[in-house]
Amino acid sequence: MRLARGSRLVVATHNPGKLAEMTALLSPYGIETVSAGALGLPEPEEIAEDFEGNARLKALAASRGAGLPALADDSGFCVAALGGAPGVVSARWAGPGRDFSLAMARVQSEMGHAADRRAWFVSVLCLARPDGECACFTGRVDGAVSFPPRGAHGFGYDPIFVPEGSGRTFGEMLPEEKEAISHRSRAFRAFAAACLSLP
Ligand code: IMP
Repeated sequence: MRLARGSRLVVATHNPGKLAEMTALLSPYGIETVSAGALGLPEPEEIAEDFEGNARLKALAASRGAGLPALADDSGFCVAALGGAPGVVSARWAGPGRDFSLAMARVQSEMGHAADRRAWFVSVLCLARPDGECACFTGRVDGAVSFPPRGAHGFGYDPIFVPEGSGRTFGEMLPEEKEAISHRSRAFRAFAAACLSLP
């Protein structure tokens, strides 16, 4: 499924930060964006069991609601010793106050002294059309959990994640260093290669 230059695309989010990030990534490809929030579309409940299921349901709802192609993302943090948790409920572990020091403390207490410290971030981007056709692209970055949290950059679980090949957490990296290897950029690069046309 390709998007021609000049296409209008709904970004299936009500979050202005996500819209701004997507608009910046898409504008070099001649894609005009509008958010599901600006169109007054309702936010579907994220009830799927995996990232792809949630990205797909958000993209399809926005695309059908707007009658335009729509792009949605879903992402999260997975810990091997916790069977992949928090995974799709990564945001919920921070509680209603969105307090990620709470979420990181929960990871620490649930992991205890588990020998397996592997963890990874996943991001799935899904492009949907109003006729129900979908294409999903997954980006992943592998690494290890490290306590205590370190670094003031980034957000969410960044201060406890050390990507493979680095001694620093995502929280200690400059935005461009994280961007070069992040799950989100990897998913975007796969989406761009398959669906977008260069200038
Ligand atoms: P959503 O994709 O907006 O549902 O967000 C999922 C949650 O995953 C976020 O609230 C963060 O807790 C976590 N997450 C996703 N990507 C990152 C990242 O790059 N760094 C840290 N946490 C992340």
